[in-house]
Amino acid sequence: MKVAIASDHGGITIRKEIISLMEELEIEYEDLGCECSTSVDYPDYAIPVAEKVASGEVDRGILICGTGIGMSISANKVMGIRCALVHDAFSAKATREHNDSNILAMGERVIGPGIAREIAKIWLTTPFEGGRHENRVNKIRLYEEKDLYV
Ligand code: RB5
Repeated sequence: MKVAIASDHGGITIRKEIISLMEELEIEYEDLGCECSTSVDYPDYAIPVAEKVASGEVDRGILICGTGIGMSISANKVMGIRCALVHDAFSAKATREHNDSNILAMGERVIGPGIAREIAKIWLTTPFEGGRHENRVNKIRLYEEKDLYV
């Protein structure tokens, strides 16, 4: 599995924490920044990560900003992206099992690096359950593709 990761200026500490987690788990990653000391715009980081996931260049993405909200809104504009904004372990597991989320967003002004690490570890290692959930995810895909909604 290959993961693209990025943050704005509000998410640098958690981004570094998750990079160290991925190194520990021997997960290949691409760090798309930011290398910022001043403020940057979260869509400039969310959209490149989302496009890499949508194109299949990487398998998953992780995005961090102050709240995680700007990153998740931006990433979810890209077709094929199911970005989940997660701040607890239960949701981290559920969104992989039920939504097959392909991007995880977190907010550094909401949670600390310890909880973020736990969330990311669960999210990175939990498989999609499929079955009835597959049908639901397919309905999102059909709507996006403006295909027949069944
Ligand atoms: C930056 O100040 C902040 O707006 C950003 O990190 C994020 O929280 C946006 O949703």
